[in-house]
Amino acid sequence: MARPPLLLLLLVSACAAAASNAAADDPAMRMRFEQWMGKHGRAYANGGEKQRRFEVYKENLALIEEFNSGGHGYTLTDNKFADLTNEEFRAKMLGGLGADPDRRRRARHASNALELPVKMAEEGNDNSTDLPKDVDWRKKGAVVEVKNQGSCGSCWAFSAVAAMEGLNQIKNGKLVSLSEQELVDCDAEAVGCAGGFMSWAFEFVMANHGLTTEASYPYKGINGACQTAKLNESSVSITGYVNVTVNSEAELLKVAAVQPVSVAVDAGGFLFQLYAGGVFSGPCTAQINHGVTVVGYGETDKAEKYWIVKNSWGPEWGEAGYMLMQRDAGVPTGLCGIAMLASYPVM
Ligand SMILES: *[C@@H]1O[C@H](CO)[C@@H](O)[C@H](O)[C@H]1NC(C)=O
Ligand SMILES: *[C@@H]1O[C@H](CO)[C@@H](O)[C@H](O)[C@H]1NC(C)=O
Ligand SMILES: *[C@@H]1O[C@H](CO)[C@@H](O)[C@H](O)[C@H]1NC(C)=O
Repeated sequence: MARPPLLLLLLVSACAAAASNAAADDPAMRMRFEQWMGKHGRAYANGGEKQRRFEVYKENLALIEEFNSGGHGYTLTDNKFADLTNEEFRAKMLGGLGADPDRRRRARHASNALELPVKMAEEGNDNSTDLPKDVDWRKKGAVVEVKNQGSCGSCWAFSAVAAMEGLNQIKNGKLVSLSEQELVDCDAEAVGCAGGFMSWAFEFVMANHGLTTEASYPYKGINGACQTAKLNESSVSITGYVNVTVNSEAELLKVAAVQPVSVAVDAGGFLFQLYAGGVFSGPCTAQINHGVTVVGYGETDKAEKYWIVKNSWGPEWGEAGYMLMQRDAGVPTGLCGIAMLASYPVM
C-alpha cells in the first residue's frame, strides 16, 4: 500500500488520531468493532468489506469522541449508522422527500374535487401566551412506538401517519398504529420508497376516505402492489389538513400544543447521523430532506427550548428514537428548516 505524503498524514492525524494506518495492530479497537457488529447484527459480504467498514467506524469513533469531549449541549454515539460515511448515510437514509410538493406526479388531482380546508383549524388560533410551557404527546398517550422505515425513502408516510395517529387518539381516545405501507403502495402521487410528501399522504387519505391499520397492512419497506381490498378498511379518516404558516415557529408551537405535527428537516449531517441525546443545536442547513413528526415541545432546566421530534429510524437511534431539537434558534426557518414545511391533519 502506498504511503500518503507526509503533509497529508500530519493533517489527517491532527484531526482524527485513530485514522492512522495501524488498523491490524489495534486489537482493542477491533474488539470494540466486533462488539458493535454483534449489537447491531451486522454481517459483511467479505473480509475486504469488513476492513473497509472497520476503517469508517474508527474514523467516526474518533470524531464522536472529539465532539463529545467538547462540552456541547448534546452528544453523539456509535449507533447503527457508525459504519457509514456521511455520504453513504445520506444516500441510504434521505431519499424520502420528493423534489417539489406542488408538482404532481400524475394528473389525478387536476380533475379530482378534493375539499381542502383553506382556513387554519380553530384550535390553532389560540394566542401563544395561553400555551402550556411544555407538551409531550407521548405522555398523553397519543404517540405509538417508534417505527423503522429501513432503507425505503418513506419518511413522508411515517411523518404523516404519526400525525394522524396522534389526532385520532386526541379526538377519539384510541391509539391505533396506522399503515405506512398502504401509502407507499397505493398513493399514486408519491413514488413509494422513492419519495413523497406529507401533504400528498394527507390528500390520499382524504380521497380514499381513510387509512387502514399497521396490523392489517404491515410495513415491508419495499414498493409493493397496492392491496386494493384493504383500501376500504379505513380505520381512521381525516376531513382535511392545514399547512402551518411557513417559517413561523410561533405558529408551529400553537399547533404542537394541540396535536402532533408533520415537519421536514435537514437530517443529512454527520451530527444528525450519530446523534445520541440532548438538545440538538446543529449546525445543519435549511435544505430540508427528511420528514419527521413534532410530538411536543419543552424547555430544559437551563432554559434551552426544544421540539420533541419523532423519527422513523428505529428506537436504536437518538433518545430511544427521538431527538430534542433546539426551538427558537434565531433563524426564520427554524433549526434545520423545521418551520419550513409543517402541516397537520384535521378530523
Ligand atoms: C400545502 O402546501 C403544499 C406545498 O406547498 C401544497 O402543495 C399544498 O397544496 C398545500 N395544501 C394546503 C391544504 O394548503
Ligand atoms: C390574541 O392576540 C391578538 C393580537 O395578536 C389580540 O387582538 C386578541 O385579543 C388576543 N385574544 C385573546 C383571547 O387573548
Ligand atoms: C369498497 O366498498 C365499496 C362500497 O362500500 C364497494 O363498492 C367496493 O367494491 C369495495 N371495494 C373493494 C376493493 O372491496
